[in-house]
Amino acid sequence: MKIAVIGTGYVGLVSGVCFSEIGNQVICVDNNPSKVEMLERGEVPIYEPGLKELIDKNKTAGRLSFTFDTTYAVQNSDIVLLAVGTPSLPNGEANLSYIEQAAKEVGTALNGFKIIATKSTVPVGTNEHIERIIKLNSSHSFSIASIPEFLREGSAIHDTMNPDRIVLGSANQETLNTLIELHKPLTSNIITTDIRSAEMIKYASNAFLATKISFINEIANICEKVGADVTRVAEGMGYDRRIGGSFLQAGIGYGGSCFPKDTQALIQIAGNVDYEFKLLKSVVEVNKDQRFNIIRKLHDALGSLSGKKIAIWGLAFKPNTDDVRDAPAIEIIQELIKLGAKVNAYDPVATANFQREVNHDHIYWCNDPLEAAMGSDALCLLTEWPEFAEIELPHLASILARPVLIDGRNVYNPDKVKEAEFIYYSVGRPHSANISDSYTEAMS
Ligand code: UGA
Repeated sequence: MKIAVIGTGYVGLVSGVCFSEIGNQVICVDNNPSKVEMLERGEVPIYEPGLKELIDKNKTAGRLSFTFDTTYAVQNSDIVLLAVGTPSLPNGEANLSYIEQAAKEVGTALNGFKIIATKSTVPVGTNEHIERIIKLNSSHSFSIASIPEFLREGSAIHDTMNPDRIVLGSANQETLNTLIELHKPLTSNIITTDIRSAEMIKYASNAFLATKISFINEIANICEKVGADVTRVAEGMGYDRRIGGSFLQAGIGYGGSCFPKDTQALIQIAGNVDYEFKLLKSVVEVNKDQRFNIIRKLHDALGSLSGKKIAIWGLAFKPNTDDVRDAPAIEIIQELIKLGAKVNAYDPVATANFQREVNHDHIYWCNDPLEAAMGSDALCLLTEWPEFAEIELPHLASILARPVLIDGRNVYNPDKVKEAEFIYYSVGRPHSANISDSYTEAMS
């Protein structure tokens, strides 16, 4: 099939590349000429394992091209995928200006019947709004569909090529049939539904995953006080197939460009129809607070943080990405600086992006994890990059000024850490000093 993808962000670029990989003719459009030039030169604007190789392969095979000319792309396609950003407005609502602009341009460019499908995450009812905009700008017939995207950064290619399910929303059976054909090589688990339900499935899925994370983080906080181990608790819960083991890793909370934005947007969508989504509001609140446990643990270990040197390992919101949007590291480092600490920061790929968000004389940017640790009063691990798990612990303890290790992602084995004589804090795992005295007394 011939496909135009409007927007070469994470979703647009990865979807476009994967559709070309399964044999379609794909033209990816971006209104930023320098991004298009980069892609044409073979450079990839985002860090995503495996993406460059797939772009090169499909460009060479003649199935994938890039342009900033929306008209050319639309007029040479049968299916147009809208994949532009929907960032948050200050009130939490999704900013629809980019998708409205894209709809207008696509409408103006139509030269015959097309399927126009939205992959961007948009509030319920937006596709009908898009339909109206296109109608105002074109006399050609077209059919609207919603195809929410469920890929994760860092494993975007794998997720797109091996989806758990594909959700297709449209009022038109022929459109659904065409979209089923398009997605068939990826999975047979294809759910068809109406447009509004498809739009809601995306928000509800992200909100539910965020809820699992905040839930396990609160269980972890209680585990710390009662002397239980949240990793074993999550394992024991996860074997129940009704619960499932994924997204039950306790840590410093979720970040990224999706969960924070989509939970806020869903709270706002509910608010717009006079419904207070109390559960989701708490999920967001718990997540905001969870990252500050790092600061509480540092205080516990070091007392005042003024003048202390703190090493930070990991700036990206999760491993295998250079994305720092809403990364817990942003607020943690800002708070450390406010408290008078000096920061030695290291991340294998996200430093440049992070520097655009936070920069300060008291942050020293390191090229190596051991350089960051050297002489620091404490080390905080904020992102579970695989290289951190492989560090030799006794050596690490020996180069820190004090062997304080705050593991925000439960990367290390507590026995190994104890052998290396660290003062070790993780998330929701036993640390005798953490067990509340009143709880121990009450149980004795
Ligand atoms: C998320 C969803 O997982 C995707 O299905 C969805 O398509 C995407 O949002 C989107 O809406 O575009 P992503 O933000 O790339 O994907 O990353 P996740 O792997 O879901 O992680 C999100 C955050 O949750 C990270 O900060 C991660 O560290 C945290 N997390 C995840 C936990 O703290 N615990 C867990 O058990 C899992």
